Amino acid sequence: MTHYKIGIFAGDGIGPEIMREGCRVLSLVGERNGIQFEQIEAPFGASAYFSHGDPFPEEAKALCDTVDAILKGPIGLSHAESQKIPVDMQPERGALLPMRRRLNTYANFRPVYLPKSLAHFSPLKPEVIGDGIDIVMVRELVGGLYFGKKETGTNAQGKRYVNEVLEYDEDQIRNILVEAFKISQRRKKVLHNIHKSNVLKSSVLWNEIVDEVKDDYPDVEVVHLLVDAAATALCLNPGQFDVMVMENMFGDILSDQGGGILGSLGLMPSACIGPERAYYEPSHGSAPDIAGQNIANPYSMIGSVAMMLEYSFDMRTEAQNIMRALQAVFDDGYSTADLSRQGSSVKMIATNEFGDKVLEKLAAMQVS
Ligand code: NAD
Ligand code: IPM
Ligand code: MN
Repeated sequence: MTHYKIGIFAGDGIGPEIMREGCRVLSLVGERNGIQFEQIEAPFGASAYFSHGDPFPEEAKALCDTVDAILKGPIGLSHAESQKIPVDMQPERGALLPMRRRLNTYANFRPVYLPKSLAHFSPLKPEVIGDGIDIVMVRELVGGLYFGKKETGTNAQGKRYVNEVLEYDEDQIRNILVEAFKISQRRKKVLHNIHKSNVLKSSVLWNEIVDEVKDDYPDVEVVHLLVDAAATALCLNPGQFDVMVMENMFGDILSDQGGGILGSLGLMPSACIGPERAYYEPSHGSAPDIAGQNIANPYSMIGSVAMMLEYSFDMRTEAQNIMRALQAVFDDGYSTADLSRQGSSVKMIATNEFGDKVLEKLAAMQVS
């Protein structure tokens, strides 16, 4: 029997609630396909800081180095709760970024997807949505401002100051662009390059590399767009986008806007891929405002399981089956609270009930 080891980092806030549903779906896929997905949990995030004194304990690091893939739930606390943890031990700086660097998962794929039939979930008007929203945001994940040198202190004038550096070398930029061109080639062959070259030198270098790499993908049309204009265009005409590529910080912000135009961050799964290792996580955070209530949308986590099956284990059909199962639950009129606004006809169900329905749909689908 094929046997894969999957690291499970449930995380904070709604993390454990949505991870539970993701793990159930993964187990069913294993049963259906005669594959053992061994799920090995490790402490990670703010909860690990409180239980182990470290948001990224040794056992989580050891798992990172040995498993076939990792499923990660969101980490982090509310602003007020975060203050109880020393700055460098807060799980974003103390666990998530070190994990991304350790795994070298430089390519972050964040699909922003809403079929026409679910246009009512979006705050955008149906005529703006047109045939639906189907974008893949490709975000550089281990460089830029997030990982540059940082310095804080007091300057000669006695003023507190900070200096943080946006650093990239040409190989880092080329690597992410190649991923974006490759996925573009498999889709509509239109790649939006998102940049800020009217101000940032990093974008000037980025665009130079775009010009070099594009010669290897002559069938892909490149459209250059400044990041601020891209933010507007996402609201006014999302249908123009197919694949968008951008540096780390731009990708952080625009991908959350992606969740906004869909109607909820709960619809945002993601894949974080490196040359040797990969992990999968929702694009959103730990949603402290709704944690512990069994109302979070597990789509993002279950969708991340689908992305893992596709990217790490080449199980495309099962990945597609999971996505079809998720859509089928919505098509039956059900959703979690985030997408069932007042006055809408959506039948509101809990996190675990949504998981139950996805499992039912998936179980009824043929294994190819
Ligand atoms: P958030 O993404 O946690 O929440 C923003 C809004 O979206 C909230 O109203 C929340 O209820 C809603 N939301 C998010 N996911 C949802 C889901 N699955 N179902 C239903 N509603 C959902 O952003 P925030 O509140 O700014 O951040 C909270 C914490 O999460 C912070 O500590 C932040 O650093 C952390 N964070 C972690 C990750 C990660 O682990 N990759 C990503 C983003 C934020
Ligand atoms: C994300 C998150 C992280 C990021 C934080 C929690 C460090 O917002 O995955 O989008 O900024 O990359
Ligand atoms: Mn983010």
